Amino acid sequence: LDIYGERRASFGPNIFVESQWLPFKAAIDGHLHKTWSATSIINGKAVDEYEADGNTHKLESQKVRAPWNHEVIAGDVKYANADLAVQAIDVAVAGQSAWQAVPAAQRAAILRKVADLYEENYAELMALCQIEAGKTMQDGIDEIKEAVDFCRFYADEAERLDDVVHEFTDLSGKDSRQVYKARGTFVCISPWNFPLAIYTGQIVAALAAGNTVVAKPAEQTSLIAHFGAQLMYQAGVPAEALQLVMGAGDVGGALTAADNIAGVIFTGSTQTAQRINQSLNNHVQANGELPVFIAETGGQNAMIVDSTALPEQVVKDAVLSAFGSAGQRCSACRILCVQEEVADNLIELLQGTMAELVVGNPLHVTTDVGPVIDADAKRSLEAHIERMSAEPTANILAQTPISASSVVSEEHSTFVLPTAIEVKSIDVIGGEHFGPILHVLRYKAPDLNKLIDAINGTGFGLTLGIHSRIENIAEHIERRAFVGNTYINRNQIGAVVNVQPFGGCGLSGTGPKAGGPHYVARLMQLRSESITT
Ligand code: SER
Repeated sequence: LDIYGERRASFGPNIFVESQWLPFKAAIDGHLHKTWSATSIINGKAVDEYEADGNTHKLESQKVRAPWNHEVIAGDVKYANADLAVQAIDVAVAGQSAWQAVPAAQRAAILRKVADLYEENYAELMALCQIEAGKTMQDGIDEIKEAVDFCRFYADEAERLDDVVHEFTDLSGKDSRQVYKARGTFVCISPWNFPLAIYTGQIVAALAAGNTVVAKPAEQTSLIAHFGAQLMYQAGVPAEALQLVMGAGDVGGALTAADNIAGVIFTGSTQTAQRINQSLNNHVQANGELPVFIAETGGQNAMIVDSTALPEQVVKDAVLSAFGSAGQRCSACRILCVQEEVADNLIELLQGTMAELVVGNPLHVTTDVGPVIDADAKRSLEAHIERMSAEPTANILAQTPISASSVVSEEHSTFVLPTAIEVKSIDVIGGEHFGPILHVLRYKAPDLNKLIDAINGTGFGLTLGIHSRIENIAEHIERRAFVGNTYINRNQIGAVVNVQPFGGCGLSGTGPKAGGPHYVARLMQLRSESITT
């Protein structure tokens, strides 16, 4: 099976040669008319009721609608409540000693099996990504690939860290050593924009470390998460090692307030990360330790382009970085900073390329930009575009309409038209806008340092694109910038597991980097052991 072999070399219309995709498309289409159900899973049981006031109450079932056509029902979900969240934590805490006693090689084998099952079930996972999250074909493929990569890489990490034993010898010749140990139960709170990849990455990293998990996926993508969890159990993850709790912020709040957790892994907004951090600081674990907190949050990511850059390459990379995944990546390019001398030419190329984008139904093979996740996201993005249209110092440069060939109703879906807006300063943008909106800013060569400082001044520090053919300039920008991931003369999205470990600093997160050599280690504790024989 090699659904990843034909990765697109470019971004734009008609990149897919439809015939190459037909076998995959046919398999995926076989699942499109399905409807799925999602519930919480606690101690291996699907939860559809709860106890309160001495009575049993049924959980209400809610319809999940496709973002590209609200009349399409993807399935139904039963959200949990705070009491069930606490119950899930208690089950995971009780299961901790059994899971951490499983040898690392066996834990790794289970995680590799998860990867295999994801690949075997790629068609159903793709259908779910497309229907529930509105992902285009390419985004769905990348999503599954990343999830699979996380499973295999963190499985390797479980084995590697098991072997990392630092030996010490004291003056009397006695042996001492330092080894990695599991920490305890981790709460994993994952986002809707990578409903399988980040969701899986968080869970398998914690499981690889020998920790038990309570996972709360984003409420918008519960169906994908539920199916993913089923595959994890099928692969051999024990019922007590993984609890799944469906719900929104109230459920997440209950999970992070529990005083018997070892840590929280979170990907989402900076504001929510700050709330979780406060909640964790307000309590300590039963053993007196502050929980570990890993947060991967937003970005106000720029691409800096000097006059030596290759214009066609820049535009291709900027368009992919800004509008790929409908701009719903924390790594996405939000501000294209172009040196004055080449700005007019680049803007013209950008307008031409944007006019070629295919916006619309994500089920169509040639679609480049699908819908945003829900009506709230659409409202807030469109409000920003409207505000910028009224702003005297801003100028709408381009906006791509929904493709005529795409049979979607704007009224019953959540499309936001890819939009490029020229701005005179970064301040006017007013924070992160999580969708297909690219701001363009001209700068003068002598003001390069001021520009980098202004980008740093946003407080975010996730990705930075640099386009320059002068090595010294690229290196200078890289050194001065305060970001987690830099990308030179290429696009700035799609970090590959164990190739570009991913994560930011400042308002963008706490580190360590996902898909890198320090991630699983952070979920473990080092224990020094001194042995007298
Ligand atoms: N890891 C993703 C990327 O690099 C963003 O979450 O695009």
